[in-house]
Amino acid sequence: DYFKPCDLVIYGALGDLSKRKLLISLYRLEKHDLLEADTRIIGVDRLDETSTSFIEIAQQSLQAFLNHEIDQNIWQRFSQRLSYLKIDLTQPEQYHLLHSVVDASSRVMVNYFAVSPFLFKNICKGLQSCGILNAESRMVMEKPIGYDLKSSKEINDVVADVFHEDQVYRIDHYLGKETVLNLLALRFANSLFYTSWNHNTIDHIQITVGEDIGIEGRWDYFDKTGQLRDMLQNHLLQILTFVTMEPPADLSAESIHMEKIKLLKALRPITYLNVEEKTVRGQYTAGYIKGQSVPGYLEEEGANTNSTTESFVAIRVDIDNWRWSGVPVYMRSGKRMPNKRTEIVINFKNLPHNIFKDSFHELPANKLVIHLQPNEGVDVMVLNKIPGIDGLIKLQQTKLDLSFSETFKKSRIFGGYEKLILEALRGNNTLFLSREEIEQAWTWVDSIQEAWQHNHTPPKPYPAGNWGPVASVALLARDGRAWEE
Ligand code: BG6
Repeated sequence: DYFKPCDLVIYGALGDLSKRKLLISLYRLEKHDLLEADTRIIGVDRLDETSTSFIEIAQQSLQAFLNHEIDQNIWQRFSQRLSYLKIDLTQPEQYHLLHSVVDASSRVMVNYFAVSPFLFKNICKGLQSCGILNAESRMVMEKPIGYDLKSSKEINDVVADVFHEDQVYRIDHYLGKETVLNLLALRFANSLFYTSWNHNTIDHIQITVGEDIGIEGRWDYFDKTGQLRDMLQNHLLQILTFVTMEPPADLSAESIHMEKIKLLKALRPITYLNVEEKTVRGQYTAGYIKGQSVPGYLEEEGANTNSTTESFVAIRVDIDNWRWSGVPVYMRSGKRMPNKRTEIVINFKNLPHNIFKDSFHELPANKLVIHLQPNEGVDVMVLNKIPGIDGLIKLQQTKLDLSFSETFKKSRIFGGYEKLILEALRGNNTLFLSREEIEQAWTWVDSIQEAWQHNHTPPKPYPAGNWGPVASVALLARDGRAWEE
């Protein structure tokens, strides 16, 4: 396939996101021959670097993160694409400098905003007034797209003054993860699930996104944000929409966005009256992760000891539509959990009657477990007869497991950023977020945040290395259920 080459301009090229994620992903795309030959990467930042020193900085960060993966030939090819331009993004008159490096007539200008949203207005205005944009130009941005509905609208308005909605690529890197995309295949390419994906056969759904890391020196950002806004508003709600939305008419961005918005609109609002029974806030205290002692949230570097920000959240979500009536979705996400684990568990209903009483008093229900991290794959828990000659049918719960890396040995599983950057360079915005869905997600999350504020709900402590406070266990126990071990 032919894709027009791009001039990818990274604003904030010397920042963390650029060094930790973007340059590495671009290098990996290079390695797999996925960048168009004429595509160039232009780093923009305010420090006094040159193209030569920027290339050295890029090489150092690649070495730090990918050491063994760097191949001299590939690096040579990659580094030739890189250049640097010093611009103080707050100074409108400096944007005309872009004309000296960007060729918007033969390449698509892709503007990657890897800077704080405070600078978005400056960049948008600067690009507009220097006259470098055209109808093909794109802009890429990612969370935090606001802090609540109001601030999210402000950012989207600033961007919309200069870029048309179909030129805007809002990243949620979870949508680049192979397993999240596989949800579309699993649900909409298999007749087995076509008839069973609803309240008739499904009892409840669990979504767990646990990380063993803490806040990794990001106190300033994290403490203002909290786990609900940092993870649930975006990544978990994205997973939720892919698991529960109606089948889209086709795979176009428009059709998929429409179904996601419909689903988000069906989320039952949480108010101060029911927030205590439907949500759990937690904050880690000192504890142990894999045998290593780690400090509590309030002892992290730069911490404010009075903080009541949550590092864990668990929620019972009710979806008010025909498909999911009476099927709760339990979501939990936290820092300093025992290990990194991201999974979706679809719990099917119990059979109405058990004729195998010798094995189980009540037959354990089937489960479909979709693993995103650490290893991608799908397991189905089914009951099987234990082989034997004595005539009795004895049952055992067994696992049909499909490991992606085993089954697709020849296919490389790309990371979320690699996939999404490539899609942005190729101009396919299906896996990006629309303004409306982000705003809908904020509307729902704001209702929770407001309810917590109204009730002054403090976070419950949990020692690092646990799956959150005991109240999280109680959240499911009240409904006669338990989290997947
Ligand atoms: C980011 C959050 O969006 O996602 C981080 O800001 C979190 O707090 C990260 O650690 C998790 O991403 P992944 O891909 O490692 O699960």
